[in-house]
Amino acid sequence: MKSLLILFLLGSCSANIPERECGRDLSNLWLDVVAVVDDSKGVTQGGLYNIIGTLNSVLQLSKIGTRKDNPRTTRLGLVSYNYNETIEATLNDYQFLDTNKMMDQLKISSNIGSYLVTGLSGAEQLFKQDKEHSREHYRKVVIVFASTYKDDGANDPKPVAARFLSSGGIIITVAYSQSHDTQLLEKLGGIATKEFNFTNDDPGLIEKIQDSLLKANCFCPNSWHQYQPKGTCIQPVTLPASWSIAQASCHHKGNNGHLVNEYSREKHDFVMAILKTYKEFQPTYKYHIGLNGNCSLWKWDQASGEEQVQLQGWQIWAPDFPRCSPMLEMLEGVTYVTDGWINVPSNFYANYVCETSTCDTDNYCARANDFLLNRV
Ligand SMILES: *[C@@H]1O[C@H](CO)[C@@H](O)[C@H](O)[C@H]1NC(C)=O
Ligand SMILES: *[C@@H]1O[C@H](CO)[C@@H](O)[C@H](O)[C@H]1NC(C)=O
Ligand SMILES: *[C@@H]1O[C@H](CO)[C@@H](O)[C@H](O)[C@H]1NC(C)=O
Repeated sequence: MKSLLILFLLGSCSANIPERECGRDLSNLWLDVVAVVDDSKGVTQGGLYNIIGTLNSVLQLSKIGTRKDNPRTTRLGLVSYNYNETIEATLNDYQFLDTNKMMDQLKISSNIGSYLVTGLSGAEQLFKQDKEHSREHYRKVVIVFASTYKDDGANDPKPVAARFLSSGGIIITVAYSQSHDTQLLEKLGGIATKEFNFTNDDPGLIEKIQDSLLKANCFCPNSWHQYQPKGTCIQPVTLPASWSIAQASCHHKGNNGHLVNEYSREKHDFVMAILKTYKEFQPTYKYHIGLNGNCSLWKWDQASGEEQVQLQGWQIWAPDFPRCSPMLEMLEGVTYVTDGWINVPSNFYANYVCETSTCDTDNYCARANDFLLNRV
């Protein structure tokens, strides 16, 4: 029994500390979504009901509309299209998931063809007309249900899609085809956000769309870099400071800010790759990290007020480090330099890297927060 316990403790000591994950709580989804639905004749009225059924199942657990006391809601607009688009509902029309109303609203058209460019333009128009400034920082998502794809001349949907994607929007596509038209699948894939293109007969379609929405709802504010697919963001700071001042600076950035934690080699490599894109960081790539302590106990920095986490698992001390005496009382924290971590005194100045949580369903980011308005 005793030896089992020791084995267990040894085992758990060597495992890396897990990185924070993106929130996955659909009831707290906070997005602005426009559904773009092909209602051309070939889809059939029954097909339209199926599409509305899929859309409503995807959003069933989420709060639709706006709530005075809760920013974690998702607004839903609805556009139908064939040769031309029809705005069925603006982003402010539904205050709950009104499935029956949607089923009543969508009527199959007698037009045989459909131009996706018109549907996408309708979605773009809804976002453009939206005057809800308190939601400007919400991710904008378009979910397309298309039965055909035409891209001749002025009907090419790619420029509208590209414009929306480059402004930070997300496009999810669902190919609605009875005949498994491979050309349709490929072409729709060409306008969707990477890996967010699906077909109506995909097993687990609803979960896959929900997963895409949760990913869309996991992002870093401007000038922060996401450690994808995890729920943390980092920001290099190119103004040298002592370790404890650097720590205070990161804590004040809000959103669970702290100095960066290099829990694994992968995380360290990610930090280095980001630093190499900043001209202010040069070899030796010197930067303060969240590790601090006193040789008998090393801990990773956490948000202000939270208990620090004891070092375990992967470590990259520089040769002959940590140095534990005779300057024990002068030690402050740990800095990465050239080939590993060194423990440093309070008069050691370096750039540093802050870390925060992503904005996601577990962590709402208010626009009023200065932190979000930080631009590069
Ligand atoms: C679509 O809209 C355009 C511009 O509003 C109009 O000229 C055209 O006649 C419409 N097409 C159909 C098939 O309704
Ligand atoms: C998604 O798009 C890519 C690229 O166009 C394509 O290769 C892939 O087959 C598509 N997947 C589905 C499920 O449609
Ligand atoms: C190291 O720090 C821990 C926690 O802060 C403390 O309990 C311990 O006494 C310290 N050890 C030394 C040698 O200062």
